[in-house]
Amino acid sequence: MCGITGIVGKHRDDIGRVLIECSSKLAYRGYDSVGLAAVRNGKVELRKEVGTIEEVNRLLRLSEMKGDRGISQLRWATYGAPTRVNAQPHFGCEEVLYGAHNGNIHNYVEYRQELVDTGHVVRSENDGELCVHAVDKYFEQTGDMFQAVQLSTKDLQGAYAYAVGRADTREVYAVKMGSSLVAGVGNSDTIVSSDLPSILPLTNRVLYIQEGEMLRLTPDSVDVFRIEDGKKLERNLEISTVDPHAAERGGYPHFMLKEINEQPKVVKDVVGSLQGSETSRWLEMIEDASTLYLVACGTSYHAGIVGTYYFNRYAGIPLTPSIGGQFIPMYGNTLSQDSLCILVSQSGETKDILNVLKHTESTKHGKSLGILNVIGSTLMFNADAYIPMVCGYEVSVPATKTYYSQSVIFAYLAVMLGERNGTLDSSEAKRLVNLLANDLPRLTQDTIDRTGIQAKRLARTLDDVKDLYCLGYGFTDGVAREGALKIKEIVYNHCEGLYSSEFKHGPLSIVTDGYPVIFVTTTEDSWMVINHLSEVRVRGGRTIIVGEYEDKLRSYVDSKGDYLMVPESDLFLNPILDVIPLQLLSYFMSIDRGINPDLPRNLSKTLTVD
Ligand code: M6R
Repeated sequence: MCGITGIVGKHRDDIGRVLIECSSKLAYRGYDSVGLAAVRNGKVELRKEVGTIEEVNRLLRLSEMKGDRGISQLRWATYGAPTRVNAQPHFGCEEVLYGAHNGNIHNYVEYRQELVDTGHVVRSENDGELCVHAVDKYFEQTGDMFQAVQLSTKDLQGAYAYAVGRADTREVYAVKMGSSLVAGVGNSDTIVSSDLPSILPLTNRVLYIQEGEMLRLTPDSVDVFRIEDGKKLERNLEISTVDPHAAERGGYPHFMLKEINEQPKVVKDVVGSLQGSETSRWLEMIEDASTLYLVACGTSYHAGIVGTYYFNRYAGIPLTPSIGGQFIPMYGNTLSQDSLCILVSQSGETKDILNVLKHTESTKHGKSLGILNVIGSTLMFNADAYIPMVCGYEVSVPATKTYYSQSVIFAYLAVMLGERNGTLDSSEAKRLVNLLANDLPRLTQDTIDRTGIQAKRLARTLDDVKDLYCLGYGFTDGVAREGALKIKEIVYNHCEGLYSSEFKHGPLSIVTDGYPVIFVTTTEDSWMVINHLSEVRVRGGRTIIVGEYEDKLRSYVDSKGDYLMVPESDLFLNPILDVIPLQLLSYFMSIDRGINPDLPRNLSKTLTVD
């Protein structure tokens, strides 16, 4: 949530243009409001407004702002409504100090009051403004920016990162206290940002910043310091191999469609990476665990549910899935030294997940195995071990290809574990890995090709729908929940994902003539799903099926168009493939309603707040 970018240029005067170019790569992090502070000849000009980066840029001509340094921010609102005054960056008491943050300041109420009581001119209800005033307060006392920044972190409680600068110095400072931060050194600029994509238009020479560190950017260098004692740290620049065009749409109308279409490649890449990795460490961590938890949020949690079924069926290993925010109140006190938390997070920055990580660290109860996509994330640096999803950048707010990769990782791990503990004999294990490595990329492409048109047509018939269910059974439990989340997230329909045998225990009463219920099934479970389909149909409901074509299911839909058919495959691959028609259906429903699926209202790609 929220994206900050700070740049200090050597010779440039076009800071607005370059800040807009770089920070537009962070559009997925926040689109409630946008602001830009540009410094020229010792004066700061600040422009900000409510809207997306394109809208605000069009309105305020941010990219025409002149100067050699500055800070921009894309906001996802938490403290303070999305208004102009709450938009970031903010000034301190005078129009000299400027800055912006990402994250949450938890002692917002008390600290704001304290600042106001001591004469600070606090203009907004946004917690980011307090970061700037905290620096202002200590600058007044010390006259030194380095110390002011360092001391500010003692006042500010929460999980955040911020960047600040002054009109009279050619420096920008930044701190990382719980939210992500990356820096880069280009030929003619230095840059700090919430995430790598906005660094790459300027340079591929990057510095990943660790918790509790602060930065000083000058036109030539980025210095890293430990906040606690101010010690300068030696850090080598790393060369990022991430394609700078990865965060571009590449001819697709939306990132979401691009990312769905990247799934065949994702399978190849992630299976290749797993086969080329030293997996024994991960497998041993799982085998040695006395209790094994799967902790994740949103889409990653749904992939974790799919993983739970894989572990049960192919490895005979019980995995307890838990929603990130629920984990500590539900299981926190019962962890032992030998517990293992598998923490699944695309961003590796989700606060609910980092809370669990901190809990295992501070209680020394439980080890952590991260499954993550963003290299350089907090989860990557702090988990005991991690498995990369190898998806490249996922820009669209609705997660698609990372879910796909997560499902494949769980399937692969289950087979490896099953082979090691004798649940699977080695020829069966080999066959299953072959399916993942050799058949799944082709079947994934085939599913996209086949169900794209079907999903588009079906979406049109659902134009007036406001409320529906998406039900799964057995292996498709997590898939149905994921389909429902996608429809909620980008169609703005209420859509509940539920285990299909639960539907009769209450929700069935919602069904009247034409009420739509989507059933996601595998060939193994369709005999049971038929009962649930019947229960809806006899009450006049409209049943829609997602799964392989089966003659016995044909009479449970009104028309062929209500049956999204995935190609025939081994049961092992069914739960992976079944998600594709649901991704595509939600995408086309979203488009039909005039929504931009990449930037659904009120949301942000990375939720670094509680
Ligand atoms: O980065 P994470 O995987 O930890 O994110 C978890 C959820 O916020 C995320 O999956 C969210 O549910 C997606 N936007 C759904 O498409």
